[in-house]
Amino acid sequence: MTGHTDLAKRFGTPCYVYDLDRIAAARGDLFDALPEQVELFYAAKANPHPELLRELRSGRGRHCRAEISSTGELAAVLAAGYPGADILYTGPGKTDGELTEALAAGVRHFSVESLGDLRNIGAAATRLGVVARCLLRVNSAGASATSSIRMTGVPSQFGFDSETLPEVREQLFDVPGTEVVGAHFFPLSNAKDEASLIGEFRHTIGTAARVQAELGTRFRFVDIGGGFSVPYAVRGPRPVYRELRAALAEALDESFPGWRSGEVRIAVESGRYLVGDSGTLVVGVVNLKESRGRRFVILDGGINTFGGMSGLGRIMPVSVRLDEEGIPLAQIASLVGPLCTPGDVLGRDIELPALAPGDVVSIPNAGAYGPTASLLMFLGRPAPTEILVRGEELVSVSRIEHHRAYQLGEQL
Ligand SMILES: Cc1ncc(COP(=O)(O)O)c(C=O)c1O
Repeated sequence: MTGHTDLAKRFGTPCYVYDLDRIAAARGDLFDALPEQVELFYAAKANPHPELLRELRSGRGRHCRAEISSTGELAAVLAAGYPGADILYTGPGKTDGELTEALAAGVRHFSVESLGDLRNIGAAATRLGVVARCLLRVNSAGASATSSIRMTGVPSQFGFDSETLPEVREQLFDVPGTEVVGAHFFPLSNAKDEASLIGEFRHTIGTAARVQAELGTRFRFVDIGGGFSVPYAVRGPRPVYRELRAALAEALDESFPGWRSGEVRIAVESGRYLVGDSGTLVVGVVNLKESRGRRFVILDGGINTFGGMSGLGRIMPVSVRLDEEGIPLAQIASLVGPLCTPGDVLGRDIELPALAPGDVVSIPNAGAYGPTASLLMFLGRPAPTEILVRGEELVSVSRIEHHRAYQLGEQL
């Protein structure tokens, strides 16, 4: 990892180094794991860096579409070359302003979380004289697999409870400005293994077919969600799914016979799998300290840089390893960041080599949910530098900067 250390010395820490070659490899492996008719939507929330978005869009016939959830992500994916037609807008709190902006930019596909959401989409579309094609997000009553992040089968702001859909059937198909064309599922993130992932997809495909029958309609677009996994801030390889392609084809043949000819579009979504192993976070050691028999290694980047959402329970608690080979582990200590909160912990009581101020620590598999899921604004520290490489070639170096734009009043 000399390359990362050299880059960190040149451009400063904390910094991320992302390798576009690894993103191309992940994209290739995921397309290989899917039947060729299945569309792949990149969840921009995992990492909306412009060059990453562009890399995922490239790839002759095997390029990603985009799943977005804000006007910031909309601007990012449009700038990276994703046309409105290849964008799916999701999220439980879509405002009239953002719906209008998305529709005006050519976005036509929306995941719908409730009747109210459907009506809001319809009102914005009617005003613009267009029709929004809506996928009913379904919160399925049962689920099959175990994962670290489950988003279905429980009371939730996401989606229609599957058991209540037949009751609202009439109202769903009668909203001006909308056409209900299908269903959207996102039951889990980060499935624990390929068997769980396949189990969940089978369950989802079966549920989609049942919902279609209950609603007495024919779906033209079914987004069966994701769950593709990758190690997060620990060493380890990205899984390659070898059984998935055949298992998906079999389940789809059974439930949606027209899928091979395109009568019904089938899509999956992935964030972390596509970008997770492309990124390494490099942080600098500022200080060492002992307190009541426990050791602390104090870094120049903590939850303002990485894993800030772990405190909210949304992302798994971060456990960090060093990835230099051959350096003996010499101590148990906590890796903590520079913020004035006891919550700024990247790893608690973990095995570490001997470290001194001025050393740098590399955290592997950190390409997903890095800056975008961190407390970038908290305490006004600069955002981490983001360095793009393609193999040995340096592509770009940049940093997010916040500034205040006054709508009223003057800057002193
Ligand atoms: C609707 C939706 N799609 C895609 C994703 C991406 O998940 P992952 O990064 O685990 O692939 C998420 C994550 O929360 C999501 O909510």
